Amino acid sequence: MKITNHWVTPIAEFDLALPQPMRQQLMALLQRKEADRDKLSESSPDFFRFMQSKQFYASTHYNLFSEANQHPEKNAILSFELLACNAYRQYLRQALNIEQADELKLVGRCFGNVQITGGRTFPHYHQSVDHVLIHYLDIPDHNDPELGKSHRHGTHALLLQDPRGAVNYPYWEKVLSIAPCTGKTIIHPAYVWHETNPYRGQGTRMCLVVNFQIASHSYIELHKELRF
Ligand SMILES: [Fe+2]
Repeated sequence: MKITNHWVTPIAEFDLALPQPMRQQLMALLQRKEADRDKLSESSPDFFRFMQSKQFYASTHYNLFSEANQHPEKNAILSFELLACNAYRQYLRQALNIEQADELKLVGRCFGNVQITGGRTFPHYHQSVDHVLIHYLDIPDHNDPELGKSHRHGTHALLLQDPRGAVNYPYWEKVLSIAPCTGKTIIHPAYVWHETNPYRGQGTRMCLVVNFQIASHSYIELHKELRF
């Protein structure tokens, strides 16, 4: 009997220790973006009207990488873009055995996820992209009374769901739980359904998220905006 495993779901987990000044700048940037959330109708009026007409909620319709020049933290943004891209290329090499990882043209969007006590990220996946990088910029220290109840417990744990659908057997461990801490960085395929436990700590918890799409070495490079 020959058995091979197919269609694996590679999840990368590693520490990315940002220089403290760079980290502080990115935190200040995310706090400012958070304060500007109500200005979506001014910054992206077409998207805002569409969102209202379809009655859906979106709070991060921006791209820190493309708007870097508009911020005093430009150098910190560019440094993070470099680190994120290098990490993603390493992921592609190791996880998918892409020998041409350094040649690939990448496109992407970077945005923040800022939450205070009681907040959580509801279940979702990232449509229209290939992979997602999450960097925990600041997870304030906290005592979590539920920590250790099970591997799924824990303040603001990231929960990633088995993408295989309703398989009957084996049915165990269909949730991968990753405990957050400052500096932890995760890369996962964009189609993986995920969410977080509520954040029960004090203070503001901040993440940077990058949506990556590979724009070369595939059919996507042939796409063009249509004339009609
Ligand atoms: Fe996400």
